[in-house]
Amino acid sequence: MTVKVAPSLLAADFGRLREEVARVEAAGADLLHLDIMDGHFVPNITFGPQVVAALRPHSRLPFDVHLMIEQPERYAEDFLAAGADLITVHVEAVVHLHRLLTRLKERGVMVGVALNPSTPAVMVEEVLPLVDVVLVMTVNPGFGGQKFIPEVVPKIAHLTRMIAAKESRALIEVDGGIDATTAPLVVEAGAQILVAGTSVFKADKVEEAIRMLKEAGKG
Ligand code: DX5
Ligand code: ZN
Repeated sequence: MTVKVAPSLLAADFGRLREEVARVEAAGADLLHLDIMDGHFVPNITFGPQVVAALRPHSRLPFDVHLMIEQPERYAEDFLAAGADLITVHVEAVVHLHRLLTRLKERGVMVGVALNPSTPAVMVEEVLPLVDVVLVMTVNPGFGGQKFIPEVVPKIAHLTRMIAAKESRALIEVDGGIDATTAPLVVEAGAQILVAGTSVFKADKVEEAIRMLKEAGKG
């Protein structure tokens, strides 16, 4: 199976964002993962729609916007206008998840739903027919460079079965602590998009780091 690699800009040099995007794009990235944090849903703050919009003209990569914010329904529209191709919201942060996903789908953007490590797969079962992506967090969201939580792997396998049973087209994306060692574990369980911050941006050879992650799907 071929997997897609989505480098997470969180691990980039924030003083040179445009160059950093170009660097991973040239090295074979399939998507660009943009982590939006509000200091409430997670204990860290990153950047908002202005930064996404400023980068948009400088890249051809699909923009994969991961909203780690409370009340994402208040800001999703701004990220859509900023050029997001995929908008992912956390199931833990939305009361009316079905309504939000339906509204975003109507706007023609791809939608994803994210699960914290402690959130069971069943929380997204009813929205599987609506979503393009299920984002499984393999660290507690908030920071890059954390250690992969192996206990999440069975949940990926569970979601793989659930998606097939529902005849959903949703792809499974994983996020947190993904490198050449952990990638085969999640791909084996059914992950198709690998988010990687540290293991890509901090690698000596970015192209090689991306290639190694893609090879996890060929094992
Ligand atoms: C964590 C973010 C991740 C993070 C991954 O809260 O959602 O996208 O940047 O970084 P690494 O790959 O360093 O764990
Ligand atoms: Zn992320």
